Amino acid sequence: MAQIAVIGAGYVGLTTAACFSSLGHDVVCADIDEERVARLERGEIPIVEAGLEALVREGMDGGRLRFVVGAENAARSAEFAYLCVPTPQGDDGSADLSYIEAAARQIGPVLPSEAVVVNKSTVPVGSTRVVERVLGRDDVTVVSNPEFLREGSAVHDFLNPDRIVIGSDDQSAAVRVASLYIGVTAPIIVTDPPSAETIKYASNAFLATKISFVNAIAAVCEAVGADVKDVVLGMGYDKRIGHEFLKPGPGWGGSCFPKDSRALVHIADTAGYAFDLLRGVITVNEDQFQRVVAKVRELAGGSLDGVTVGVWGLTFKARTDDTRDSPALRIASLMAAEGAEVQAYDPAVKAPVEGIAPATDPYTVCDGADVLAVLTEWDEFRWLDFDKVAGLMRTPRVVDARNLLDKAALERRGFTYTGIGR
Ligand code: NAD
Ligand code: UGA
Repeated sequence: MAQIAVIGAGYVGLTTAACFSSLGHDVVCADIDEERVARLERGEIPIVEAGLEALVREGMDGGRLRFVVGAENAARSAEFAYLCVPTPQGDDGSADLSYIEAAARQIGPVLPSEAVVVNKSTVPVGSTRVVERVLGRDDVTVVSNPEFLREGSAVHDFLNPDRIVIGSDDQSAAVRVASLYIGVTAPIIVTDPPSAETIKYASNAFLATKISFVNAIAAVCEAVGADVKDVVLGMGYDKRIGHEFLKPGPGWGGSCFPKDSRALVHIADTAGYAFDLLRGVITVNEDQFQRVVAKVRELAGGSLDGVTVGVWGLTFKARTDDTRDSPALRIASLMAAEGAEVQAYDPAVKAPVEGIAPATDPYTVCDGADVLAVLTEWDEFRWLDFDKVAGLMRTPRVVDARNLLDKAALERRGFTYTGIGR
């Protein structure tokens, strides 16, 4: 079993640390955030992620998982150092590598000889070389091993991946990284670093493309009187298309699709290819936020000025507490900019976010509302008392941007219902 340092205790780092320890490795996970580390040492998990708490406790109780402040304190005895730090969007759309470089600078002087540094953060083509240069160590190899987990099912995805991608020019380092996934059954693709780095961006961009495509088809459905639910069902049975990532909604968001799609456009531009298809995918997504606002405006009678909108859902999707680049927040702020009074509820968001102080229950936000907008697909929204909701609202009108609710049942209760593409 290997000694692994994981640098960064966020969605990816914490999941990587907990899962590698559950596979039997000795893991030390480092973060720069002292409070985060203190909470983790007490067994408190700072993010909502199914199964993570149990795995962290199991690792800590078994003595295979520790948390420390500072990357250098994790790296001293590491055979492998996994970089799981942020790669946010820079001003020009490119990925900002400053966290990666800082982490590499911290671990470079202390890594044992023959250690392997692994880029798990999503990094542009050429970053393996950047890390090599910053480390300044001839006896340390840098390997790319991108991560494909989804928030909300991170542990499951890490332990049951569709594939493991390893990018390295050094075959023995690639084999060493592959051997860490002992007990995980998945195809392993060993390739060169630029290909591994491109696989990660191409995969996210393709998924974003599927969603923008289906959101565009939903717009067509509205224009021609078709029902997008039936259309995607009919498309999805074609095995070449598949059912996944064909749910129309308020647009895609989250901590990765927005920044990664822009980063790939930038990577392509810099390399001399104008990726107009992906630019279009991003534009369709921006339009989708506006289309949802337009639906609320229309139900409100043509203007949002002075209109009270109840919002259900603030996270970028259900089963996570993450609000980074959330379509719900974008739509709420666009409505507020048109003069709407937005009152919001989300089962996973308790603290104020981007000027919105969330209510403590879903009914409160319906009180006196002119329109209700469902922006995140939390299952619990389906099972609420809609007679009570209708009674609380000034007028029972709902924009269901996730096609989550039962349209016929709501209309029977007197609601005016608008979904997406139906
Ligand atoms: P995050 O913001 O949740 O976590 C990053 C953590 O790194 C933070 O806790 C931060 O304090 C810490 N950190 C920053 N610099 C550090 C340093 N020098 N030493 C120690 N800790 C440091 O980020 P995330 O969502 O886990 O994403 C990390 C990377 O993984 C990004 O490149 C992202 O694109 C990629 N990724 C994310 C997901 C996802 O679902 N969130 C999935 C696949 C890939
Ligand atoms: C996404 C990818 O699915 C992961 O494979 C990848 O590792 C990760 O990005 C990353 O690189 O960070 P995640 O951001 O957790 O994972 O969320 P997704 O489940 O992909 O959803 C992204 C957005 O698309 C959400 O806003 C979601 O509501 C939306 N979506 C998704 C739809 O509107 N329709 C769909 O059919 C699917």
